[in-house]
Amino acid sequence: MAVNLLDRLHTDAALTSRYDKVILVDPLQYGVQKIPEAVLADPRYEFVEGSIYNPNVVTKVVGAGDLVIHLAAEVNSFTQPQSGSADDPVGYLKNLADARIGRLLFLSSADVYGVNDSADLVESDPVRPTVIYAAAKAAFEAYLSAFHALYGLPVVVFRPVTIYGPNQYPGWLVPRVITQALAGEQISITGDGSVRRDWIHISDVCDLLIKAALSGRDDVHGAVFNVGTGTEDSVLALTRHVLSRVGQPESLITFTADRPGDIPRQIAHAAKARRVFGWAPTTPLYEGLDTTIAWYSQHPQHPQRPGQ
Ligand SMILES: NC(=O)c1ccc[n+]([C@@H]2O[C@H](COP(=O)([O-])OP(=O)(O)OC[C@H]3O[C@@H](n4cnc5c(N)ncnc54)[C@H](O)[C@@H]3O)[C@@H](O)[C@H]2O)c1
Repeated sequence: MAVNLLDRLHTDAALTSRYDKVILVDPLQYGVQKIPEAVLADPRYEFVEGSIYNPNVVTKVVGAGDLVIHLAAEVNSFTQPQSGSADDPVGYLKNLADARIGRLLFLSSADVYGVNDSADLVESDPVRPTVIYAAAKAAFEAYLSAFHALYGLPVVVFRPVTIYGPNQYPGWLVPRVITQALAGEQISITGDGSVRRDWIHISDVCDLLIKAALSGRDDVHGAVFNVGTGTEDSVLALTRHVLSRVGQPESLITFTADRPGDIPRQIAHAAKARRVFGWAPTTPLYEGLDTTIAWYSQHPQHPQRPGQ
């Protein structure tokens, strides 16, 4: 997502007039491990290779009034607990509070709700993670809540549904399905493909983050917002659509065992984000998928899938 957001930060006039510099911090451990040349060449951008949990990084790059957009995630911990991690979220948040930042936008996940068949997840629904990734997000949200209450940390939490679009880590489902379909490779799908998701285009998520960054409302601090479209479709339907668009047969699909802890259905209307930020997602799923397929077919050098 960072690469998509950097493009937008670069061109959004309201943002560029308010913030004169963007500093990207990433240890390049996973995700899209290539920072675009245009970003590296632009004097308004600085790239720091390192972890946000390294106290030397935060104290050096963050100052009073700054906007911090926290996209970092331990995505490799979907079902495997990370052991031996030296990450210190408490020290990190204390440093942000001490720096008196202007606003922190934190990307959590709708996965924190766990199994909830509601056709309209709301922010007050119980948080019951079923995978380590979601548990880590929920734990981080809890720290944020405490730092907001104790130190007035101006945090806004977002819980997006499944995000798809160009320039994504090829380990995520949609870029994997598209790149495998384009290559005519077998596409493995867990279970019978009936898992239903609310799929949101990355540009709609970036729109919301920019609106939240620019919002003059102080009452958003300490609040949580779902990020979704309110529509849904199954993994199998999405995969079939991609295969038909790239002219490949459905016989490429193979079915594997269910993923432990997987959520059968997840859909969020995000009425609160619509109301508070005046935002609405504008990309219908199958239109967004078609432009995403076109992007991956035009960028065959995009970082390869894990293991390649
Ligand atoms: N992609 C989705 O469908 C989706 C859905 C809901 C929420 N989210 C959340 O949105 C955020 C962005 O998602 P994404 O798809 O770009 O994920 P991604 O995995 O592509 O990128 C995450 C980035 O965080 C970096 N990172 C990890 N630990 C770090 C650390 N300690 N310090 C600095 N950087 C670190 C990784 O190197 C990686 O580049 C993540 O927090 C993710 O959990 C994503």
